Amino acid sequence: MERKRILTGDRPTGKLHLGHYVGSLANRVRLQDEYECFFIIADLHTLTTKPEKENIEQLSENVHSAVLDYLSVGIDPKKSVIYLQSAVPEVTELALFFQNLITVPRLSRVPSLKEMAQNAHIEEMPFGLLGYPVLQAADILLPRAHLVPVGKDNEAHVEVTREIARRFNYLYGETFPIPEAMISEFGSLAGTDGNAKMSKSLNNAIFLSDDEKTVIKRVMSMYTDPKRIRADIPGTVEGNPVFIYHDAFNPNKAEIEDLKARYRAGKVGDIEVKEKLARALNTFLDPIRERRAYYESQKGLVEEILYEGTMRMREEARQTLSLAKKAMGMSSVWNRISRKAEERQKKAASGQVGE
Ligand code: TRP
Repeated sequence: MERKRILTGDRPTGKLHLGHYVGSLANRVRLQDEYECFFIIADLHTLTTKPEKENIEQLSENVHSAVLDYLSVGIDPKKSVIYLQSAVPEVTELALFFQNLITVPRLSRVPSLKEMAQNAHIEEMPFGLLGYPVLQAADILLPRAHLVPVGKDNEAHVEVTREIARRFNYLYGETFPIPEAMISEFGSLAGTDGNAKMSKSLNNAIFLSDDEKTVIKRVMSMYTDPKRIRADIPGTVEGNPVFIYHDAFNPNKAEIEDLKARYRAGKVGDIEVKEKLARALNTFLDPIRERRAYYESQKGLVEEILYEGTMRMREEARQTLSLAKKAMGMSSVWNRISRKAEERQKKAASGQVGE
């Protein structure tokens, strides 16, 4: 039986953190055995909000760092394909076909696009940003993926993909599967400052690449219950990021229950709760650090893995594009012309054409 296909990935904007881990990376590692997984490093998508040269100059490093983060958490290049979007030019051709299968008002209603524009201080919607979900649809349908594990913020993009796939199949015949979004039930992880979302730009993140000392430092300065100015004041556990992290990363459930009970009773200091959290986080990160150290010690290995994955994806892309063009009848336009031109040239070569 053919395994079903998954496509998902990230824009390469820098180091990945614990929020990425619980929100998506852990899930991807799990899915690699059951599915044929394609992980895209979507560098073209970064241009939709950051077309400036300074940002493009950062791409090489950010791509390397994303792939290294993937490998460190246990994405296995023997099982899964990791590839670079911009090195598979077929995606732009497929996206161009797709642009005709969805309307501007439909795309204008995708809420994430306005948000992205706002966050990037862009006043008027660029054509490329409006087309972000169309390019994403081409990403997803290029390997003819069935499932797309993404966060809630990307759900609408997968919906656009489904509409485009249906429209394509309706106009040109059954070509693409209608992919389904697989929304991670773990929403976003709180930041170390208590903000609802961990994010690099908010400076409230613990990175997968942080060393032991950095983790201790970040945990010891974490936001907790602001009303609890002394250790003997009863504190609130719910929504407290220190306990959110304990729940997410500390496998010792008895220790967590004990800390929570004493916290609620005003019988434990923040220091103890945080020291135990730092220890749990470092234990969690250790195997990730080990894999990172291995991949870092092998010069060029990260690049070779990305190269091989990209080559594999190119082959997939070539096949899909050929299928799509055949279905549309687009391939025959040029085929007919080149066939006739070649026939004539052959005749000319054998002296059968005048002049
Ligand atoms: N839109 C995704 C993000 O928010 C990145 C991405 C690009 C993607 N192409 C994709 C995700 C295809 C899933 C499938 O960063």
